[in-house]
Amino acid sequence: MELFLDTANIEEVRQGVKLGVVSGVTTNPSLAARAGTPSFRDLVLEVCRLVPGPVSVEVTALDAGGMVRQARELAGWAPNVVVKIPVTAAGLEAISTVSKEGIKVNCTLCFSVNQCLLAARAGAAYVSPFVGRLDDTGHDGMAVVRDTVEIFRRYNIATKVIAASIRHPLHVVAAAKAGADIATVPFKVLMQMLHHPLTDIGLSRFLEDWKAAGLEFELPVGGH
Ligand code: E4P
Repeated sequence: MELFLDTANIEEVRQGVKLGVVSGVTTNPSLAARAGTPSFRDLVLEVCRLVPGPVSVEVTALDAGGMVRQARELAGWAPNVVVKIPVTAAGLEAISTVSKEGIKVNCTLCFSVNQCLLAARAGAAYVSPFVGRLDDTGHDGMAVVRDTVEIFRRYNIATKVIAASIRHPLHVVAAAKAGADIATVPFKVLMQMLHHPLTDIGLSRFLEDWKAAGLEFELPVGGH
């Protein structure tokens, strides 16, 4: 399973990419608003420059014609832009139009398997079931990921499943077990995946023992 960062914060993107574990980014209008940028376009261009993979950027129009116009505009900003379009009737119409033009779409705000199936049939390259927001309403968000993956595999549907609205590290493990192609995670969750107190304790104990023995790490002069 690939990992995307769910953020529009440039510093988080920079740090995540530096670790070599992030292969894409997803943004949404709320995340863009939180980034506090004077220019949405400049923000997207910078993210696209930093990220070695797809960067999802969302349309804000609600009608199909407006979505199509915005999708064409966004897709022209950088070769790695993937246009995020919500799973509404207008959205499906826009997805089917722009995907035929070769524009890659991430169909967003999916809360059911049927919505994911419709998005895939309209031509979306990615679907994003929102796990955390479903869990918040007392439903099993990961079941939508699991069932969508199973159905896409059974019918050889190439649309990739992005487990979105990820809230904690256990969601990431569950997404991987459910067969999601990608989990898009907030930077905080990426750090939570990394950190373990036993790693910190183990590391300081190793170094204490090393120092107590008076050992030194000898590198060859002029070494790499
Ligand atoms: C997905 O692409 C969305 O940006 C995101 O995962 C929404 O997550 P939230 O429920 O934490 O806002």
